[in-house]
Amino acid sequence: MSINAAAREQKVREALSEISHIATLPEITMRIINLVEDTSSTAQDLQNVISNDPALCARILKVVNSSFYGLPGQVSSINRAIVMLGLNAVKNIAIAASLAKLFRGGDLTPQFSAKMLWSHSNAVAIASKMIANELNLGLGDEAYLAGLIHDIGIMLEMQYDRNQLIDVVSRTGCDSSGVPANDMLEVELGVFGATHEDFGRGLCVQWKFPVSFAAVCGYHHNPAGAPEEHSKLVNLVAVADRVAANLGSHYRLDLISTEVPSEAMDAIGLTSHMLEQLMPKIEEALSVGEISLT
Ligand SMILES: [Fe+2]
Ligand SMILES: [Fe+2]
Repeated sequence: MSINAAAREQKVREALSEISHIATLPEITMRIINLVEDTSSTAQDLQNVISNDPALCARILKVVNSSFYGLPGQVSSINRAIVMLGLNAVKNIAIAASLAKLFRGGDLTPQFSAKMLWSHSNAVAIASKMIANELNLGLGDEAYLAGLIHDIGIMLEMQYDRNQLIDVVSRTGCDSSGVPANDMLEVELGVFGATHEDFGRGLCVQWKFPVSFAAVCGYHHNPAGAPEEHSKLVNLVAVADRVAANLGSHYRLDLISTEVPSEAMDAIGLTSHMLEQLMPKIEEALSVGEISLT
């Protein structure tokens, strides 16, 4: 494909300037992220931000009370949730729950809807976190959010030009079980002039997300190309992407193969044996851990 990097970047800039509603991160998400970065923030600060949005508060408590966290008894307040799970865990749930707003938009085709992508993103988030914990990679929270936003570029494509995304989905030639015949990234270059990796990376920069998230969005289909300092996180999400595609909803529009690449496993120190042991645990977590869109 002869579309050069400069032309792709130009396309991303053009898309971002046209869709201000997604190009702006929900204000509440931004405020929670700022709290995460400020090490002096307290449970009360988080409570103050979240209490401005009762729907968000309800969504957070629903997740906190899901069997994924295995807490004894019902948790009915954000403060109590923070005591039980810790401030960081609740901040992450809050960020995830506030991002859910961006994944609305109905069904595009039988092979693709925003809801399918949200389920897939949740699955990759959970798989990333569980693999990172198992390997003691020291990135639990970051791993969860990175998994959640890795394909956000597809949502940008959907908001920017629905019909072009429908065209992309149809040109990937998915069969009835969602297995694509053609590489989505090649198809995207032909239709949009840029890929969901390009759009996702651009969106992370616009949102002032941590640079590691831009690397995850930009390289999750080619982790070997990621900047060295983010290599671990990018490889982790690349592994989790395939793991999730083999479990749960089986969404895999952008994966011709769901085989987990051995180079990516080596990069994070995951053996086939460890993965085999983890798969049933991840599958169980997926059945209960998804954050609802409503
Ligand atoms: Fe992707
Ligand atoms: Fe994905």
